[in-house]
Order: sequence, then structure tokens, then C-alpha cells
Amino acid sequence: MSFRLNDEQLMIQSMVREFAHKVVTETAAQRDRTKAFPADNLKKMADLGLLGMMVPLAYEGSDSDSVGYVLALSEIAYACASTAVVMSVHNSIVCESILNFGTEDQKQRYLKDLAMGACIGAFALTEPEAGSDPVNQQTTAVKDGDHYVINGTKRFITSGKNCGLVIVTAKTDPAARHKGISAFIVTKDNPGLRVGNIEEKMGLRASDTTDLHFDDCRVPATDRLGEEGEGFQIAMKGLDGGRIGIAAQSLGVAQAAFVAAVRYAEARDQFGQKIAKFQGLRWMIADMATEIAAARQLTLSAAAMKDRKENFTLQASMAKLFASEMVNRVTAKAVQIHGGYGFTKDYAVERYYRDARVFTIYEGTSEIQRIVIANNIFKSKFRQL
Ligand code: CAA
Repeated sequence: MSFRLNDEQLMIQSMVREFAHKVVTETAAQRDRTKAFPADNLKKMADLGLLGMMVPLAYEGSDSDSVGYVLALSEIAYACASTAVVMSVHNSIVCESILNFGTEDQKQRYLKDLAMGACIGAFALTEPEAGSDPVNQQTTAVKDGDHYVINGTKRFITSGKNCGLVIVTAKTDPAARHKGISAFIVTKDNPGLRVGNIEEKMGLRASDTTDLHFDDCRVPATDRLGEEGEGFQIAMKGLDGGRIGIAAQSLGVAQAAFVAAVRYAEARDQFGQKIAKFQGLRWMIADMATEIAAARQLTLSAAAMKDRKENFTLQASMAKLFASEMVNRVTAKAVQIHGGYGFTKDYAVERYYRDARVFTIYEGTSEIQRIVIANNIFKSKFRQL
């Protein structure tokens, strides 16, 4: 099925493409070296409405659909994958979770600021001993009058240092497994919240990934997100949308690597002709193009299902699985086509290759996506693809 974009979606795509090429690309290589958080990019993106994309106008958002969001996020990822992951977590898991599960008061107090980019959102589910298996998390939240007291450590938190608020999950009833997990909105100025170790990473180096320590962190009960015991469902629903975001990021990085590889092949002479003339290389380019196109269809179709309010869990996992594996193959081929130069920092494909590596890991590894896909097939008797 080929995807026909409507006028509004095309407008978002061309607006963000122009912005990303003019503004975001410029500092991407330098940020990779210095690890400078892209605060200035994010400020400009907020002005363009890219930090509350699926948030209604009433809460200062852009009221875009998920297809428009995929297009915008891909364009940002094309320019700078570090900036894109901040945008992805902020929009997909943080804004959407508050939109879907927050009280009117929480939307007024938090969602508006998030959508305007006045503060960046983070999402804290993972722990040192609970990555793929978040039901096994050890962080606790104990009710104390009109507050909860949170204790525990979260790990690998995107924007942990630079966020203004974090949605954290914790066990309110440790015996009840996933039904005993609740979610809370914690602002960064809470004295019980401390930023711990900042990871030294292979890629996405300008996006900070940190530990967050909650030490007797007192949170008003009015900042519990959703009902007690609803935290795991909030996380899983958020991750469904988040996984479409990671697929979109994968598309952007793959497209950038593909364009770089084609341009290089057209410019580089060996054996008396452009290397683009060699069949071995042309077939690599053909495979790269085909895989990117396939991933795009899967991703847009998952986003369109979300927009139609259909159950899109299966399609989000398929898109995330295929697109994240695809971008690792595409960036590896792009490095190969560049030969020795692809192994140097003089060419952007070296960065694309490193940035792409985590896409098959975060927001659910490829192995977890296969579990979700298989579970949905067998549970729902889903057969017709
Ligand atoms: N939407 C809503 N509810 C869902 C759901 C979904 N997509 N998936 C599961 N649930 C519900 C189920 O209905 C079930 O609830 P009931 O018992 O009330 O019916 C409950 O959750 C438990 O479901 P499962 O039995 O399927 O749960 P499980 O323990 O077997 O785990 C899993 C399922 C798919 C493996 C899940 O644990 C998972 O996705 N793990 C990976 C976690 C992950 O992606 N971590 C990434 C961290 S975030 C990150 O990377 C952030 C960042 O900063 C970039």
C-alpha cells in the first residue's frame, strides 16, 4: 500500500525539513563531539510547535496527527539523532501519557508547559535490574497522608539531567505485580530527586542518559498519574506510541545515510570510473532504498492506525523492529560504500552508524518486539496481514 499524505502532513514535512537542514544539521557533528545538549535546537523547535505535536490547541499543542509527527521526527533525526530522541521521548511517552491519563489540573499545570517547550519531559521506567522486565522494578511509592514517598533508582533515563519533569513508575503494592505499579509526575526541583551517573555512550552523545535517584522523594497525591495500579498500563501504552517514534527516528537516520552513500558513490573514482557504476555497489544501494521504503510504509501505517484510534500495538512493534534493524543494515552499508573514509569522523556516516546502534535496544529490544508481535498474533487470533 502506498501512502498518500494530505496537505497538512506535506506542509509539516516540508516545514520541518527546511528547518532541520538549515538549523539542526549545522551543529550535529560538533554536538556529537562535545556532547552539548541541544537546548537551542529545542527552543526553536518549541517555537515551531514540535514539542507538543499531538497535544490539542487548548493545551498549547499543535494538534497534529501521528502521521505528521512521524514525518517531523524523521526530518529532525535526519539532521541530528540526539535532538530527535529528546523530541521523541518528550512527545510520545511524556506528553501523550499526561494527555491520555492526566487530570485536567495536571494538564493545566504540566502539559501546557511541556507543549510550549518551557520544560523537557523524561520517562523513568527502567532500573538497574529491570530493563526488558519492568514488572520486576524495585522502586516503591508509599502513601503518607496526602503524599507518596518514592524510593529507588531509575537507569538509562533520556534527558535525566536536562528535563524539567519526569514521569516515574513505582510499586504501590509490591505483591500485586504489574497491577501494583503506579505512575507519578515528579518535577526536577523536588529535593528528593537527584541526578546520578551520566552514561558515556557510543552514540546519541548530545542526549544525556542518566541514573535518577529517588531518596524519600515526597510527591503530592495530586501528582499521581492515573489510578493507583495503572502505572504499568500507562507505560505500555506510552511505549506503543514511543515505538512508532523510534521507527521514525530510524527512518530519518537511514535516509541520511542513504543520501550520503549515493552522493559518495557518484563522486568517488576507482578503476577509472565512478564507483556508482559497479554492480556490487549498485545492488547495495538498491537494497538500502527498498528497505527504507518498506520501513516507511510500516511506520506510517502504524501511525495511521493510531490516528484512527485502532489498536496499533502489533503494528507499532513491527515498525520498531523492522525499522531499527533496517537502519543498522543501511548505516553499515553506507560506511562500507565510503570505504576507509567511512571509518573516519570526516564523514557523517560514521556518526549515523554509531547513533543507529541503540535503536534495536531502547524502548524495547528487538527480542521484546518479537514477543509483543507473537503474543498479539496468538492472543487475538490475528492472521490477516
Ligand atoms: N497497552 C496496554 N496494556 C498493555 C499493553 C499495551 N501495549 N501491553 C501489555 N499490557 C497490559 C496487559 O493487558 C496486562 O494487563 P492485564 O493483566 O490487566 O490484562 C499487563 O499489561 C501485563 O501484560 P503482559 O502479561 O503481556 O506483561 P509482561 O510482564 O509479560 O511484559 C512485555 C510484557 C512486552 C515484555 C513488557 O514488559 C515490555 O514491553 N518490556 C520492555 C520494556 C521496555 O520497552 N523498556 C524500555 C524502557 S523505556 C526507554 O527506553 C525510555 C527512553 O528513555 C528512551
